[in-house]
Amino acid sequence: MAAADQIKSLIKSFGEADEARFYATAMQIAAGEARSGHTALAEELKKLIDQAKLGRNTALGVVKSLPVSASQRELGDLLELIHPSEKLKEMVLAPNLSKSLKRVLDEQKKIEILRKNNLFPRKKLLFIGPPGCGKTMSARVLASELAIPLFIIRLDGLISRYMGESIAKLRLIFDSMKQFRAVYLFDEFDSIGTTRSQGNEVGEIKRVLNAFLMQIEKDSSNSLIIAATNYPDSLDKALFRRFDDIIQYPLPTVEEIYKLFKKEFFDFKLSKKFDLHRIAAHSDGLSYADIHRICADTIKDFLVYGAEEASEEKLINYALMRKQPY
Ligand SMILES: Nc1ncnc2c1ncn2[C@@H]1O[C@H](COP(=O)(O)OP(=O)(O)OP(=O)(O)O)[C@@H](O)[C@H]1O
Ligand SMILES: [Mg+2]
Repeated sequence: MAAADQIKSLIKSFGEADEARFYATAMQIAAGEARSGHTALAEELKKLIDQAKLGRNTALGVVKSLPVSASQRELGDLLELIHPSEKLKEMVLAPNLSKSLKRVLDEQKKIEILRKNNLFPRKKLLFIGPPGCGKTMSARVLASELAIPLFIIRLDGLISRYMGESIAKLRLIFDSMKQFRAVYLFDEFDSIGTTRSQGNEVGEIKRVLNAFLMQIEKDSSNSLIIAATNYPDSLDKALFRRFDDIIQYPLPTVEEIYKLFKKEFFDFKLSKKFDLHRIAAHSDGLSYADIHRICADTIKDFLVYGAEEASEEKLINYALMRKQPY
């Protein structure tokens, strides 16, 4: 019989989606059984482990490392690989936004059953909203909740660095989606999605946009594709119907700002002298990123200069300073 520690490790690794540890523990259990002379059971366990690995790899397109063929090695230049750890509950979200993200996660978690029924989970998302309102953070959260990596692709960089070759590079990225299940975030999407480009990159940008439209249309990978932009008005209308969901990220409401203050100061007990409702009202119009920054500044006041140097007035002042145009 497997030792209690091994059973615990098995359950823990399952809970944490730590596939490597799950298989390693299962193999240890099989080896233990072999040592105890239970060869038939050991063989059966090994077979089950192999089958489970194979099943997951083919169903999800999971590979353990980045593809390494010569052309694919260039991917390293185009994609920034991140293993995020933020969870959905860390975000303060309007109810409909929270629902949209949960729906994506729920469908993604049922990917195998959906694919068996010739259905795709929601996977092509367009995030629209002003700076600092959670687009990148949501991409990080989706990757983290699904226990897959996040790749960030800067399209403006792709076009300016690979003038004339950007379409080939884009194809490389879409190829990688089939082999390596991950969240692929096309940041600054307006740099190709726009209908109003100017200058000598215009032709190239149009071609890249058309290539993107074609690739996203025929994509049948198990990866998530997210495009994020601050400028929805300039986006080519042909783009919108290519996405499963178009998700808006507005500035936070006063109530959401208040909730974010509560979260930011959760570990750091503020004195009762701070009226977070009042501070939230003064912070109306700021982004989540701004709120995050002014909270950090206040915590620093405490830590660097002592409690008497941190005050509600000072925090409100930080908020007002962020509102002023430079
Ligand atoms: N909904 C949210 N809940 C809690 N914190 C948030 C939320 N949205 C953003 N933040 C905070 O703001 C920071 C910046 O957000 P993020 O990078 O996601 O903005 P963005 O929408 O991608 O902006 P940009 O358009 O400039 O790329 C995050 O790192 C996080 O600290
Ligand atoms: Mg961003």
